[in-house]
Amino acid sequence: MCGIVGYIGHRDSQPILIEGLKKLEYRGYDSAGIAVHTSEGLKVSKAKGRLAILEEQLEGAALNGTIGIGHTRWATHGKPSDVNSHPHQDMSGDFTIVHNGIIENYVTLKEELAAKGHTFTSETDTEVIAHLLADEYDGDLVQAVQRAVKRMKGAYALAALTKHEPDKIVTVRYASPLIIGVGEGENFIASDIPAILEHTRDVYILNDGDMAVLTSNGVELMDVEGKAISREIYKVEWDIVTAEKAGYDHFMLKEIYEQPKAYRDTMGSRISADHKQIVLEEVQMTKEQIQDIHNIHIVACGTAYHAGLVGKTVIESLARIPVETDVASEYRYRNPIITPNTLVIVVSQSGETADTLAALREAKRCGARVLAITNVVGSSVAREADDVIVTWAGPEIAVASTKAYTSQLIAFYLLGLYLAQTLETQEAGAIADVIQALEKLPEQVEAILAEAEVVRDYAERISKHEHLFFIGRGLDFNVAQEGSLKLKEISYIHSEAYAAGELKHGTLALIEEGTPVIALATQEMLFEKTVSNIKEVAARGASVMGLAIEGDDELKKSVDELFTIPKTLPLLTPALSVVPLQLLSYYASLARGNDVDKPRNLAKSVTVE
Ligand code: F6R
Repeated sequence: MCGIVGYIGHRDSQPILIEGLKKLEYRGYDSAGIAVHTSEGLKVSKAKGRLAILEEQLEGAALNGTIGIGHTRWATHGKPSDVNSHPHQDMSGDFTIVHNGIIENYVTLKEELAAKGHTFTSETDTEVIAHLLADEYDGDLVQAVQRAVKRMKGAYALAALTKHEPDKIVTVRYASPLIIGVGEGENFIASDIPAILEHTRDVYILNDGDMAVLTSNGVELMDVEGKAISREIYKVEWDIVTAEKAGYDHFMLKEIYEQPKAYRDTMGSRISADHKQIVLEEVQMTKEQIQDIHNIHIVACGTAYHAGLVGKTVIESLARIPVETDVASEYRYRNPIITPNTLVIVVSQSGETADTLAALREAKRCGARVLAITNVVGSSVAREADDVIVTWAGPEIAVASTKAYTSQLIAFYLLGLYLAQTLETQEAGAIADVIQALEKLPEQVEAILAEAEVVRDYAERISKHEHLFFIGRGLDFNVAQEGSLKLKEISYIHSEAYAAGELKHGTLALIEEGTPVIALATQEMLFEKTVSNIKEVAARGASVMGLAIEGDDELKKSVDELFTIPKTLPLLTPALSVVPLQLLSYYASLARGNDVDKPRNLAKSVTVE
């Protein structure tokens, strides 16, 4: 949450900062701002609302200069307003900063600084950092930052400018992501790679406690004690087109359509040439270590948590190891029983989610081995885990996660099969059957996408409702949970996902004439039971859309609409059945005139607790 950018070089910085912020707007869009060393001094322009408002403000009042920093905000401390927008300055305006994270002890620091005569204009935690720099400065910005961060508690990726040293940007990170782009005669900072990819593919991914001092001609890396450090340059392999809309109206739609490719890329070379085995070279656990796993905890947030719910059934079914799936923000505070024989699997698209990262650290503190499933190479989660399975979904820009979720499912199928083949809990033939079915999924998703118009028609009708229900049993319930979250987050329609058999224990009271119910019935073994539950809601007036496997025409008699998906193994259906639900949310959001890619109140990467 919140995105920062910085530029130092020979070109005008404003357009580079604005273009960079456009690529980071997914991280927050409550306000935007830039600060530039201009010929008239260090100037700031910032405004509440979308970046477009800042752009309008800059028309005719451009900030010209070759060194600048920028910010796009997801409000935490202080409501969205002009004054709470970044960049923030000290009283004199000599020190200007942008910050992503939360300074937990800002109240204490504010009191200390106020006692020394500092007065504050915003409600933010960030403003204290600019004042701290002014308080600590004695002619050297690098040292002032080093002393300031020692007084700060919390999470930060920050970039600082001072009018006293208009030839450098000083940055430091702790628990919030920050990368440095290395160019020729110019250098960049950003919260995420797409912001600078147009200019360079060479990046340093900073670790916690790393500082960087940028000038036009170089980047000096050091720790917060000032000791020089070296980091390898990471060469970005994907290009900017991957991170752009490529003709689609929205990133979300593009990302839904990219799923077949994401499935293929995530399976990639992890399936042996004879299609009989899983090869997970990135999992370093020995056979003995795998045999020693007594239980598995899957920990994640939001959509990634929903992938973890499916992961539990996948691993338990294939590898016969007991699995619990937890929401990361609950896990870390509930004193879970973690032993050295527990394998903790953290799932995170961004690899930066604060709660997931904290859960990972708690697991390691308790001696567990941690395996991460993440979409971002070099992310905090990837760096701190013992084993990493990268989902090769490519950059996901839309706030609502689609291809990252389904790639996480693919990662769980691969992992479940890998554990099963190592532990010999399944016959070789059974493993080969699942692999064969897995390899068919991309083209089956393509077939579902070809029917998108049918979903669109239904989505437009439900977009007029304020409440609806998703029901399903087993894996269908887990997919219903994801479908319901997706719909809420971008269409703002209130929806609930229920285990179909659970409705009659209370929720059935909410069903009335015309209430839309989306019923998933893809699980062969549970089909009859789910049909009974569908009849229960239909008898109370619900208008039911069924989601079933091709050929299950019998369901037609019990529902008002039927959407089918191609046949696959019951265990693999989530990777197909979620796709129409993603389309449903997308089209319902569109019909309601919402900003699909940037839903209200949300941000893509949640780096605060
Ligand atoms: C919803 C969504 C969120 C994320 C959650 C975790 O569409 O995207 O629920 O899944 O914030 O994010 P990551 O996976 O980056 O840890």
